[in-house]
Amino acid sequence: MTAEKLVELAKEAMTHAYVPYSGYKVGAALLCADGTVYQGCNIENAAYGPTNCAERTAFFKAVYDGQREFTSIAVCGGKDGVITGAFPPCGVCRQVMREFCRDDFVIYMVGAEGYEAHTLAEILPFSFSAGDMKE
Ligand code: THU
Repeated sequence: MTAEKLVELAKEAMTHAYVPYSGYKVGAALLCADGTVYQGCNIENAAYGPTNCAERTAFFKAVYDGQREFTSIAVCGGKDGVITGAFPPCGVCRQVMREFCRDDFVIYMVGAEGYEAHTLAEILPFSFSAGDMKE
């Protein structure tokens, strides 16, 4: 699986977004260590708070299926599904990544002209994880 193919799958996932409130469609494609890809979209809610981001939809689908090892994720989005600039995952999604991924997990942030790649360590430094819960 190349980064370019993962980006294409994120773009396809974006078309599944349920966004009656923001109109901001987001798609994600999550690559597992065994080569399986899980796609996710954002799913909004009239109460706003329960909205689920595309990244978490992809993670939760994968974890449900028993996946526990992840390599990278591509994320794209834009108003009405038109990609303009690349954007970083929200803080809640970064924390979900922290639960399941090592520091070298790669996030491809997709813009109109390609993508930029950053590791989880770069976008979530000094983070809390299971190892911090010492008795
Ligand atoms: N959103 C995502 O799906 N992922 C992110 O990383 C940032 C935000 C969604 C949530 C909401 O449906 C819309 O984008 C606007 O915030």
